[in-house]
Amino acid sequence: MNVLILCELSGQLRRRFYDAGHNVMSCDTQPCDDPEHPSAVCHYEGDAIELLEQSVEWDLIIMHPPCTALTVAGNHKYAKDKPGYTERLKAIQWTVKLWELAKLKGARVCLENPVSVVFQHLKGAIVQYIQPHDYGEDASKRTGLALHNLKPLKPTKRIPGRIVNGKERWANQTDSGQNKLGPSPTRAKDRSKTYDGIADAIVNQWGGLESC
Ligand SMILES: C[S@@+](CC[C@H](N)C(=O)[O-])C[C@H]1O[C@@H](n2cnc3c(N)ncnc32)[C@H](O)[C@@H]1O
Repeated sequence: MNVLILCELSGQLRRRFYDAGHNVMSCDTQPCDDPEHPSAVCHYEGDAIELLEQSVEWDLIIMHPPCTALTVAGNHKYAKDKPGYTERLKAIQWTVKLWELAKLKGARVCLENPVSVVFQHLKGAIVQYIQPHDYGEDASKRTGLALHNLKPLKPTKRIPGRIVNGKERWANQTDSGQNKLGPSPTRAKDRSKTYDGIADAIVNQWGGLESC
């Protein structure tokens, strides 16, 4: 399959699709994090929309567009009447353009974001919510997948959380349910890296035409 991964610098999906024998390319405005992997030569450093505009057709396009202004967790800063609202509107406009272009250039498309205001603007999208702890990870992070011509991703292995005051919590969470990662220069990047278990499921389930 010809697979395009947009807004990925970790190489989590590019490496796996490459290792599974697919023709894959990734794109991010930043250099990739895995220059030593043979598939790193298939990383394009540049703008996702410009790349899509110049692209021919792909069998599968997977996108992880920036979510800072889109996530509902940022409503205190980006909601209507908040200082970042214009930034949110611009982010919605950019992501909708990305989605529309991807549907033109890709037979199957997935756009990933956390719980986000953008999904209601993506025409024709079937939105599925997944959790890393349903894919073999000891972690909680509700994640939305907007799908076009793709079957929902099936859970692979559930990791139960610890019980705190009757509530389930995972290793990346404090007892009160907050994320444990403290402030650091790489916090945003660390939090946005695609989980191994989810990347494995995507390649195994969508890397074969029979599942589509
Ligand atoms: C939420 S992170 C996704 C990270 C991804 N899950 C991974 O494992 O690498 C969003 C990514 O979009 C990239 N990005 C931002 N603007 C972009 C653009 N115009 N074109 C391509 N990538 C862009 C950022 O550099 C960042 O790596």
